[in-house]
Amino acid sequence: MRVGVLTGGGDCPGLNAVIRAVVRKGVQEYGYEFVGFRDGWRGPLEGDTIPLDVQAVRGILPRGGTILGTSRTNPFADEGAGRSGAERIKDNLAGLGVDALVAIGGEDTLGAATRLGAEGVNVVGVPKTIDNDLGGTDYTFGFDTAVNIAMEAIDRLHTTAESHHRALIVEVMGRHVGWIALHAGMAGGANVILIPEKPFDIEKVCEYVEHRFQTRYSPIVVVAEGAHPVEEQLAVADKEVDAFGHVRLGGIGQLLASEIEKRTGKEARVAVLGHIQRGGTPTAFDRVLATRFGVQAIEAVRDGAFGTMVALRGTDIIRVPLTDATRELKAVPPERYAEAEVFFG
Ligand code: F6P
Repeated sequence: MRVGVLTGGGDCPGLNAVIRAVVRKGVQEYGYEFVGFRDGWRGPLEGDTIPLDVQAVRGILPRGGTILGTSRTNPFADEGAGRSGAERIKDNLAGLGVDALVAIGGEDTLGAATRLGAEGVNVVGVPKTIDNDLGGTDYTFGFDTAVNIAMEAIDRLHTTAESHHRALIVEVMGRHVGWIALHAGMAGGANVILIPEKPFDIEKVCEYVEHRFQTRYSPIVVVAEGAHPVEEQLAVADKEVDAFGHVRLGGIGQLLASEIEKRTGKEARVAVLGHIQRGGTPTAFDRVLATRFGVQAIEAVRDGAFGTMVALRGTDIIRVPLTDATRELKAVPPERYAEAEVFFG
């Protein structure tokens, strides 16, 4: 058995831990051979590979990023040389003698894996994203690391906000969902948390901010990059889209800071955490989750359970149809947001 491995979409702490587990388990227990595909779907699309054996995965468990490289290449948007992306991928896999693929990625990478699976490619999915927005799994790896990075930033911002009697706005990642904002905001004792699932009222945000100043404590506003006000009066700064049609976000934190200054007369500053949340070493939780996902992905390959994704349910790793991962995004439920609201203002 020859197994190809790829990592697609935004990088994420824990990707290397999955690659290591897949290779170690596959080589040591089943005698499989591995091929690494470079840069997400670009690798199989162009037949661009790197050797992947036990030696290649030594020492990578604590390393952020991905030794395979990643990209946001959409194989279904690519009709190079008059042949569809799926045809080119199938030809390249056959030419390389690859019998099965382990695709590690988020909604876009796994969406493409689902379609390729339907076209006869033997594929098993592993859910990754710092956003934690994939259906079918309780958690994705990378999320815990991102939350801890954001929480530490909030802790640090508290002390500078206090010293200067300023409002501090912390913009975190979260394109469609507010999981990072919710968890980091709760863990960091935010004054208000703004998420894409619940359009915010700028008047109400300013009330919370003013109330916090009245209690002689400086407000911290945590905002997900995809959050927006009830009426679209604050526009996103950048409308560029990627190969999967996603708008590149950013700018809501700065807009909020300006609006808060204007409406409350208090000084406000913004800290945009951006890709810091995706970089560096994974937490213990993410290393363990990623390792378990990798081990179970190879079990799925051995069982011929193609078209499935490994997923966390409670404390167990289970298999779900790949389609479950991408059918709908896992949004923050209103009752989870309500728990955080107790601490607003
Ligand atoms: O999907 C993960 C994510 O980090 C989102 O939170 C964010 O909106 C996006 O990727 C940023 O993508 P890029 O690294 O391509 O700018």
